[in-house]
Amino acid sequence: MAKLRDGEGKKQRLDKILSHVGYGSRSELRKQAKQGLITVNGVVQKDSGAHVDPYNDTIEVAGETVLYREHIYLMMNKPPGVLSATEDKRDRTVLDLLEERYTVFEPFPVGRLDKDTVGLLLLTNDGQLAHELLSPRKHVPKTYEALVEGEVGPDDVAAFAEGVRLDDGYVTLPAQLTILGRERGRQVISQISLTITEGKFHQVKRMFQAVGKKVIFLKRVSMGNLPLDANLPEGACRELTSEELKLLAEI
Ligand code: URA
Repeated sequence: MAKLRDGEGKKQRLDKILSHVGYGSRSELRKQAKQGLITVNGVVQKDSGAHVDPYNDTIEVAGETVLYREHIYLMMNKPPGVLSATEDKRDRTVLDLLEERYTVFEPFPVGRLDKDTVGLLLLTNDGQLAHELLSPRKHVPKTYEALVEGEVGPDDVAAFAEGVRLDDGYVTLPAQLTILGRERGRQVISQISLTITEGKFHQVKRMFQAVGKKVIFLKRVSMGNLPLDANLPEGACRELTSEELKLLAEI
């Protein structure tokens, strides 16, 4: 997995460090430094171009200790109706849901969920980690829960374990389908869990299409060893804990 503290021990310009973590532009920081608002290891530093070690020196701005990091790792419980893209002319994207203290790091979504899919979406500015999680060679498992029209049964479980042929002829890798329950109203709705180890476009929906069924609700509940935090409300986002980062590193 990617190193989490790139550049540790290297000195960098104070204004570069502070603008990276959202303390303003370089010219704003020059003014703040001149005003004596910035300290390094308890000593006022009036030169915003001074070189310091962002990990090992203690930097304070107006009395607030700066928590520096190069990378940010966010877990979002994606709501329906937003695109997992960085920008779009028409629709809102997941970045529009982030607080500024996160957007200053310029995170991007790790892979895509459909507009109507909800659940676990990671966002980071760590390109190496994103690349590893998405690499087709790594086969990182992703688990989804879904509601499917019709009666999902043992034949479907067997077909998914074998691999099904999608509409473009591609045969999927073995996937683990579990039937969680059924609702019997005017029509049968099956509740299922499905773990896949690849990420073809609309893969889950197309796998059910291949067995003549339709997904009507889709939620991603885990990626690698990292589960979605069940207490994170839809639309909310938070930083991963160090424990969760370790889980991701186990890929
Ligand atoms: N499979 C789908 O069909 N849609 C998603 O959003 C994710 C996986």
